[in-house]
Amino acid sequence: MWVPQLGEHQQPVYLSIADALGRDISSGRLRHGERLPTLRELATALDITPGTVSRAYNEASRRGLTQGEVGRGTYVLAAAEPRLPLPAAGAEAAERLRGELLDLSIIKPHGESRQQWLREALATLAGSDALEAALDYAPDGGHPAHRKAAAQWLGQWLPGAQWQQVVITSGAQHGLMVAVSALTESRDLILCEALCYPGIISVVHGTGRRLRGVPMDEYGIIPQALRELCMRERPAMLVCVASCQNPTTSTMPNARRAEIAAIAEEFDFLLLDDDIYGFLAADSDIRPLSTFAPERSVYLTSLSKSILPALRIGYLYSPARLLSRLTAMVRSSVWMPSPLTAQVASQVLSSGLHQQLIAQHRAEAAERQAMAREIFAGHTLYAQPHSYHAWLQLPAPWRSDEFALLARANGVLVMSASQFEAERNQAPQAVRLVLMSPTNRAELRFALTKLNSLLEGGDPKRFY
Ligand SMILES: Cc1ncc(COP(=O)(O)O)c(C=O)c1O
Repeated sequence: MWVPQLGEHQQPVYLSIADALGRDISSGRLRHGERLPTLRELATALDITPGTVSRAYNEASRRGLTQGEVGRGTYVLAAAEPRLPLPAAGAEAAERLRGELLDLSIIKPHGESRQQWLREALATLAGSDALEAALDYAPDGGHPAHRKAAAQWLGQWLPGAQWQQVVITSGAQHGLMVAVSALTESRDLILCEALCYPGIISVVHGTGRRLRGVPMDEYGIIPQALRELCMRERPAMLVCVASCQNPTTSTMPNARRAEIAAIAEEFDFLLLDDDIYGFLAADSDIRPLSTFAPERSVYLTSLSKSILPALRIGYLYSPARLLSRLTAMVRSSVWMPSPLTAQVASQVLSSGLHQQLIAQHRAEAAERQAMAREIFAGHTLYAQPHSYHAWLQLPAPWRSDEFALLARANGVLVMSASQFEAERNQAPQAVRLVLMSPTNRAELRFALTKLNSLLEGGDPKRFY
């Protein structure tokens, strides 16, 4: 059992324990993945209270030295040195990144030219007549000009989109919160994909609704499974990410979308069509889910993935009968999304810059997807040609939590399947890799090669 050498106390004991932990990791006395004594064991060994040990472990966790899991104990997290050989392809990137975490955990557009075009857009705004209106309170739903710009863009997928049916939100997360709170009641049952974007889970739980995950295959929610669930329970709403789904990248074919919409009609529930990645699936003939049942569907998207997350501008497109509930909820949650950033958004949408950015992001994503396919050639990797992320199945006996932990100790952040579970114990052994988040391709190659060498050369047994 690990017992730290504390020496003379020049500082609170809990800090001395955390310092000793750091020293023992650096010297190799403690190894990555090793389990530390329980609070009670260490308290007895050092003749201190379990509360002091708990503070010490919290401090160690804050320093990134350990990871604690309720019921499973506290584990050493930091590897003093990468224990696997650095892939040659990434040697240069490794040099630059020494000691830094490579973050493959956030889905965002890559940002090479963003400062430049944003400066230009802000300069245009500064000289524009539209500036004055953007400085004031906006009417319900947003300024008509901003809603018209949105309707024109959305019209590519929602034919004949009417600007009066567009509601501006502060991003898609806000749109989810608004739609769930405005259109369902407390304790209502909300359905989503069995593995889904964690923001959906937090909205449903946070608003006091009940959540059930619908089983999926590689094309998304399985209609038969949805039907069986509806025969047993009465859902009020299905939240569905039908294109480039987060996390699995599944994209539902039109025929299945039509089946899901028919089930919504039959069992009388609403569809919340979260199509935030729809623009990445757009060169196929895919139609948004909501177009299959427009009278019971609310379409949701945002500009976070195509322009900038910092704009915080999203759009709901709703049947007329639901509009007033949605605008009232926007008002009571944030009063209004910022008209200033909505103006920047409208300018980008209307000037043609948006189409250019989308084309650039799609081309970059395709290059990165090709790189991932080449590196993980021996493994099962689900992705769409232009999706920003990929879904890597882990071969037995790897488990996703442990793999994510090992990846992190080796400097790469990925999200484990368990972080997307709508209900407990539904996750396969897989991790989500966001290919667009590293700034350049050399860094991405380095990170992916490292993950692949962990998969092939790592020793999962150490964790079990
Ligand atoms: C499926 C899905 N919906 C909604 C959001 C929230 O997007 P926003 O940044 O516009 O709030 C995300 C963000 O990753 C997402 O993946």
